[in-house]
Amino acid sequence: MYYRLQNYCKLVEGAKRGAIYNLQTGKVHSINQGALGLLTACRAKALEELLDFKSPQDQIFLDFLHRLTEMGLGSFFINQPSPTKKEATPPVNPPKLEFIWLELTSSCNNQCLHCYATSGPTSCSDLVDHKRWLELITEARTAGASAIQLIGGEPLLYRGWRELIEKAYHEKYDFIEIFTNATLINDDDITFFKHYNVNIATTIYADNAAVHDSITLNEGSFTKTFTAINKLLASGIPLRIASIIMKPNEYEVEHIMKLCANLGVEVTPPDVVRPTGRGEDDALLPTAYAKQPIKPPFYTDPISFAKAQCQHSCLSGKIAITASGDVIPCIFARSEICGNILQTPLAEVLNGPLLSDCWHTTKDKIEKCQHCEYRYACTDCRPLAQGSDTKKRWLACSSECSYNPYTGEWKDGTLCETIVNSIIPSGSTQK
Ligand SMILES: C[S@@+](CC[C@H](N)C(=O)[O-])C[C@H]1O[C@@H](n2cnc3c(N)ncnc32)[C@H](O)[C@@H]1O
Ligand code: SF4
Ligand code: SF4
Ligand code: SF4
Repeated sequence: MYYRLQNYCKLVEGAKRGAIYNLQTGKVHSINQGALGLLTACRAKALEELLDFKSPQDQIFLDFLHRLTEMGLGSFFINQPSPTKKEATPPVNPPKLEFIWLELTSSCNNQCLHCYATSGPTSCSDLVDHKRWLELITEARTAGASAIQLIGGEPLLYRGWRELIEKAYHEKYDFIEIFTNATLINDDDITFFKHYNVNIATTIYADNAAVHDSITLNEGSFTKTFTAINKLLASGIPLRIASIIMKPNEYEVEHIMKLCANLGVEVTPPDVVRPTGRGEDDALLPTAYAKQPIKPPFYTDPISFAKAQCQHSCLSGKIAITASGDVIPCIFARSEICGNILQTPLAEVLNGPLLSDCWHTTKDKIEKCQHCEYRYACTDCRPLAQGSDTKKRWLACSSECSYNPYTGEWKDGTLCETIVNSIIPSGSTQK
């Protein structure tokens, strides 16, 4: 008799434990070392070679396999099953450009305490001329990009921003967004946004001017941003409101979420300040608020399981071009410069080894994660992990995860959601 996991179930080995990824239900089941050893051994040998069916000791292994069967994760076979040809995971295409951020200017009328781009009224490192931005919109579209975001600094301080939007519109981008502090939006701009199907993203740090303006260091900014938000909503322009929590606004989380709910805008828990640019300052770290740490349950699906084994779950297909022409894989990954479009055609940077390395940064390359059984289900933010690392290493593990794959334990006491945690002893499953 033989035992096999279903074709839609994938066994992933960690240093201490393992996991069964059910690509049909999306659940990821943790299993202990003994269970992992048994399932691995079952791939090559008949159960009679592995277990003594009469031994009460080996009964626990059979009970485990029956449990897996009941859960729809595996099956017994009388004869050795032939290797199945139909793969449960789809083929993964090589990454291609999908999304592009254009950081039009490093200047800003605000001067936020935490700004990763270190923008402000006196900041000016803008080197890309207008003609080059226009060309880049076409080049990126030709390379496959279907979504574009104009950002900064403050993108509305860039004098030719309207012409860039018109260009993106005529190049038929599916999604066009401007990420703006919204202090400079006037009625004419709103008519323009509507005409060109522009989406807007903006940021609030509190539901009141005192706290918000103490972060933007621009008196009157809350009133201007809030006035624009109301006008945008009244005009039916798609609007996202972001919020970042740091020490001065750590008690504003509930107020911000309530304000968004009252405005009828999607409510998501705010992000915490990231240690990049002016944000790299321990004094800004909130103590009363933290984002959810990485922990189970993890979920999977055929596409993301296959993709996680060859590409980065978030970075793949994205680039940002800064106002000085640098191409970086994400607006927060300031030090990962993959080329500069002032010296190099965009296509050359897109096909270059540096960007390819970023796009292919799988968890199999990341310290600690490479030995973790959750590595093909767990998400990853490389710039955040890098920023929190004392040596700023690109392949550093995330500080938001307390799992130790070498002991199979979570430091914060999280229990591995397991189907067999205590019943399968570790060690030999060999008769
Ligand atoms: C750099 S701004 C550019 C767009 C516009 N000026 C604004 O503030 O909305 C884009 C977003 O990044 C956020 N941001 C800036 N520095 C950050 C940091 N260190 N950590 C997390 N988010 C940050 C801002 O709060 C804003 O929501
Ligand atoms: S976060 Fe935005 S508004 Fe604030 S300084 Fe940076 S670019 Fe300007
Ligand atoms: S962050 Fe790394 S170690 Fe932690 S659960 Fe995810 S893959 Fe495992
Ligand atoms: S999640 Fe991280 S890697 Fe992805 S876009 Fe955001 S900052 Fe960049």
